[in-house]
Amino acid sequence: SEALRIGLAGLGTVGAAVFRLLSDKADHVAARAGRPIRVVGVSARSRERDRGLDLSNVTWHDDPDTLARDPDVDVFVELIGGEGDPASSSVRGALTAGKPVVTANKALLAASGVELARLAESKGVTIGYEAAVAGGIPVIKTLREAVAGNRVSRVWGILNGTCNYILTEMEEEGLSFEECLAEAQRLGYAEADPTFDIEGHDSAHKLALLAALAFGTEIDTESIHLEGISTITPEDLEAAEELGFRIKLLGVARRTESGVEQRVTPTMVPRMSAMAGIHGVLNAVAVDGDEVGEIMLVGPGAGSTATASAVVGDLMDIARGGVCPPIFGMPAKDLAPYKRARMRAHEGGYYIRLA
Ligand code: HSE
Repeated sequence: SEALRIGLAGLGTVGAAVFRLLSDKADHVAARAGRPIRVVGVSARSRERDRGLDLSNVTWHDDPDTLARDPDVDVFVELIGGEGDPASSSVRGALTAGKPVVTANKALLAASGVELARLAESKGVTIGYEAAVAGGIPVIKTLREAVAGNRVSRVWGILNGTCNYILTEMEEEGLSFEECLAEAQRLGYAEADPTFDIEGHDSAHKLALLAALAFGTEIDTESIHLEGISTITPEDLEAAEELGFRIKLLGVARRTESGVEQRVTPTMVPRMSAMAGIHGVLNAVAVDGDEVGEIMLVGPGAGSTATASAVVGDLMDIARGGVCPPIFGMPAKDLAPYKRARMRAHEGGYYIRLA
């Protein structure tokens, strides 16, 4: 049957891995998706750069906006990153042209997700963003579909692989913050600008998306109480250990009677708890549902192949056709206005300020 034709914008860590996965596993993907999935056009900042990819059978576009609107492209994959243009303009262009979009861009969705979802739904197409939250962990599908019968009271966890890697390596190997960050960058975990990781913005983007899905509210990244890990010292980690805790950068979103409370903060978690046992680049997302109880998903939260596999999973959903699930688990027009609750400390661990 006919191939699903992909326009792939962005050939960085994740984009190159998606390209590779779709060519190396072409037969597997075609068998499971019911039709081949083929990259027909690409766009990236530099045409000359050697990425070790065979681009001889694809059309090169200098401008992702023209790729997004190319009539030969069925689905637009945006892996450029950043909340502004050209990521934003190309995604809007594809949706306006009635093409489904798959993206790993949490910054863009955190800033404009509801508006983009309304545009997509008005065109009868979907936005796949499994790769935008917690890399390879299928947390979007879980919240949107698997636990949809629950009223969720809390969604929380470790949402940034780079920070968790740094905190784990500092504690276990006694390395400095800078050494750990450099290694996380080398391994392809960190954002292009790692400030987004270590100051907690990346976790905040993901938390805002999870909260919208879990509570059926509009996205509100601005109201997140935010603190990163750049001030955590080896002494803090030692002090926590002596008290029987580990320090984790947690994102927590809770439903309260007065609204939704969201925070990203370094938190002391009891050493014996499951959350304390999440090491290295792993992420963990816990969901409290009124029917299912608490579930926890654990897996690689960053890294090229893990994140690429989530992108390809979304493409396979689209290839199978028919399924255009509401982007936030419900029509975007029905999302409740976000209502902020007053912050309370001591939830899901102990708030730290060890200084
Ligand atoms: N920089 C992110 C992280 C990548 O470290 O978790 C995945 O979104």
